[in-house]
Amino acid sequence: MSGLSGMSPGDWTARIRVKKTDQAGNWMTWARLALSAALVASTAAQAGAKLSATQGSTSADAVSLTRGTQVYSKYCAMCHGEHGEGYAADNASALANQDFLVSVSDGFLRKSIAKGRPGTAMAAHASLYGGPLDDADIDSLVLLIRSWQREPVAQLDTNPVLGDPVTGRGTYDQFCTACHGEHGQGVTAISLNNPEFLAIVTDQQIRRTIAHGRRGTPMAAFGEHLSADAIDNLVALIRSWKREPPQRLELPVPIEFPEVVLNPDGPPPQFSLREGRYVSAQQLDAAMRDGARLILLDARPPSDWYLAHIPGAVSAPAYDPDSIMLLLPEDDTWIVSYCACPHKYSDQLTDALKSAGFENAVVLDEGVRWWQQNGYPIEYGP
Ligand code: HEC
Ligand code: HEC
Repeated sequence: MSGLSGMSPGDWTARIRVKKTDQAGNWMTWARLALSAALVASTAAQAGAKLSATQGSTSADAVSLTRGTQVYSKYCAMCHGEHGEGYAADNASALANQDFLVSVSDGFLRKSIAKGRPGTAMAAHASLYGGPLDDADIDSLVLLIRSWQREPVAQLDTNPVLGDPVTGRGTYDQFCTACHGEHGQGVTAISLNNPEFLAIVTDQQIRRTIAHGRRGTPMAAFGEHLSADAIDNLVALIRSWKREPPQRLELPVPIEFPEVVLNPDGPPPQFSLREGRYVSAQQLDAAMRDGARLILLDARPPSDWYLAHIPGAVSAPAYDPDSIMLLLPEDDTWIVSYCACPHKYSDQLTDALKSAGFENAVVLDEGVRWWQQNGYPIEYGP
């Protein structure tokens, strides 16, 4: 219970939504329980222990390809493409790529889905961390993604790769920075410095990707241009970026918000919208500083809201729009939704709001990742 030290359990009295799914993965019942989070909060270590205890085994619910397909089209296709072809959202890699599939383990897939890649559009999807998926959902996804594999598993040894990160730096700047960023933070391609990625990827897996590339994507086979030593040095450089993943607490979902409207007595914001829908970060920031009356919705899974969000934003996952609508005033208050991808979840939520009659629903154009990287205000974690 030390995970929430400094807070009295009363601060965290919150509603926990219990999800029950039938065998096909449909949401059947939503029971709401009022529980003190003191009962459910545990330290990150305990959460991690629980996760690993269930990894490899499946829960009582059936794991199936049908379920995997349903879960995938609801929660993954919007970014990774209906058939895993990738790039429906920026940097969302091709999960059906054969070079990817032959070099990753089921554990790598499971953990990538469960814990996500903090700081990117890839949220932690495990319900343990505030995501929408239980163990059987995640195992069903792994089954589905594996069903796309047509080539045999690459036999990679487990030896660490020994190289010189300092020499690797020069090669990296020359060949990799343009797509993966100076610090491996990802620009036009997936990040390489993410703590959750570096916690689960093996040296040989990184090595193989650099040498063989990913056919059909911009990731070239550098084995044709670089010596074995040069590739080893790149692996050593990427490895040197390893750091502790952010602490994840087991936290209540949905999060209880006593008030959803910011500045209830303020004037309406004066937005000038791109394509009648997108508001710029600069305009939103100015409106908030002017004390304008508006509602800010974080359309990502709550796991991401917990890590970092725009101050005053309410957690409103786009895959469950009905719950948030119950809390919204039925008037012309402006509602700004945002996500990190930068528009997938926020567009989805805004579409739902507009069709329910909330006409002043708009989308933060640049998304929250850009907002954060450009020094606009952010509130971290609970
Ligand atoms: C909002 C967009 C979005 C959604 C929804 C999403 N992802 Fe991702 N995913 C990404 C992005 C972007 C990355 C790359 C993150 C980075 O730069 O490190 C990623 C990375 C991954 C990776 C790691 C790939 C690698 O090569 O390391 C896996 C596996 C993955 N996603 C699976 C899934 C699955 C399965 C789902 C559905 C439960 C899902 N993702 C939902 C955007 C998304
Ligand atoms: C032209 C852009 C581009 C360049 C240049 C490039 N990459 Fe990539 N890289 C990508 C893309 C795109 C992917 C993801 C492809 C996919 O699976 O969808 C990727 C994937 C990777 C991955 C796998 C990451 C993961 O999470 O699975 C590694 C490792 C990697 N690149 C390393 C490098 C290194 C090292 C260099 C320089 C020698 C480099 N890349 C140069 C575009 C690029």
